[in-house]
Amino acid sequence: MADNETDGGEIEIDDHSGVETTGHEWDGIKELNNPLPRWWLIVFYICVIWAVGYWVMMPAWPGITGYTKGLRNHSERQNVAAQITQLEEARAEATQQLVAAPSMEAIESDPALNQFALAAGASLFGDNCATCHGAGGQGFKGYPNLNDDAWIWGGALEDINKTITVGRRSTHPETTNTMMLAYGRQGILSRKQINDLTEYVLSLSGQTHDAAAAIRGAQEFAAQCTACHGADGTGNHALGAPNLSDAIWLYGGDRATIHETLWDGRGGVMPSWEARLSEAEIVALSVYVHSLGGGE
Ligand code: HEC
Ligand code: HEC
Repeated sequence: MADNETDGGEIEIDDHSGVETTGHEWDGIKELNNPLPRWWLIVFYICVIWAVGYWVMMPAWPGITGYTKGLRNHSERQNVAAQITQLEEARAEATQQLVAAPSMEAIESDPALNQFALAAGASLFGDNCATCHGAGGQGFKGYPNLNDDAWIWGGALEDINKTITVGRRSTHPETTNTMMLAYGRQGILSRKQINDLTEYVLSLSGQTHDAAAAIRGAQEFAAQCTACHGADGTGNHALGAPNLSDAIWLYGGDRATIHETLWDGRGGVMPSWEARLSEAEIVALSVYVHSLGGGE
């Protein structure tokens, strides 16, 4: 232990570490004098000064009923609200135009309005329709593909608009309710008749089939099915009866699935959106869906 004599008193140097002590001692344990590095202290004091400035300028301290607003009166929440209002104002005019347009065809032929409708429609589709129809409208078994040019209820703008507004087999009073009956389960046709019809339906889309059974099936078809599916099986949009002669199927075109359709019947439900979406939103969606695969 080396002792140094100074005017203030004794400075003691710790033997083990060679660092001077502060002179504080507890039960023989002495406190070493290891000051913080200068750079650290400078940064620390800068932070303190900056914090005081921040309290003055920005919202900082909670109070009983509110908080100190700061000189800048900054509020992220107000900023977002202002941005939303701004956006709504910017959109209000275009939204108005969607409803005021003489027809949906007129919207499509106005490039700016069409672009607005497509953008709004795409976002509404993602929020409301993609769960059933797929993110790109590609569909699933029982949920029609909206990208192709084959339509059950019609692919013209007016048809699409009606499908979305009142739904199909929905709870809306103006919806269309035609069903594909359960010909087997309800005993309308015998098992043999259904087997024959299955072969005939296979033949309509050019698939391999039992020719003799298909000929018998053709007679049944003329008697039972043409009222909805048409004499040549090409379907009827007004009744929602799909085209059976193309290679596009809602439920499936293999022998087993066709048989199942004829035995158990089908009746897919497209909900009505009239109560959930505004008129302008339904128009935007119609234009968007039409752009995916309109026609017919
Ligand atoms: C709960 C599932 C479900 C949701 C959600 C849904 N749909 Fe549908 N949609 C269906 C079903 C099922 C059909 C087929 C009905 C049938 O079998 O005829 C259908 C049919 C359609 C058709 C007719 C297709 C054709 O070939 O004629 C259009 C258009 C359509 N939906 C658009 C939409 C749009 C736009 C939305 C979002 C606002 C939407 N759907 C939301 C289930 C749904
Ligand atoms: C009252 C009208 C009506 C009659 C009659 C009718 N269908 Fe249908 N059929 C429909 C409707 C509507 C659908 C679509 C059901 C749906 O969208 O869920 C359909 C669907 C089908 C499908 C499924 C198509 C697919 O894409 O998966 C087949 C197959 C079919 N019908 C065959 C027949 C045959 C065969 C007969 C005669 C025994 C017949 N239908 C009689 C209305 C009818």
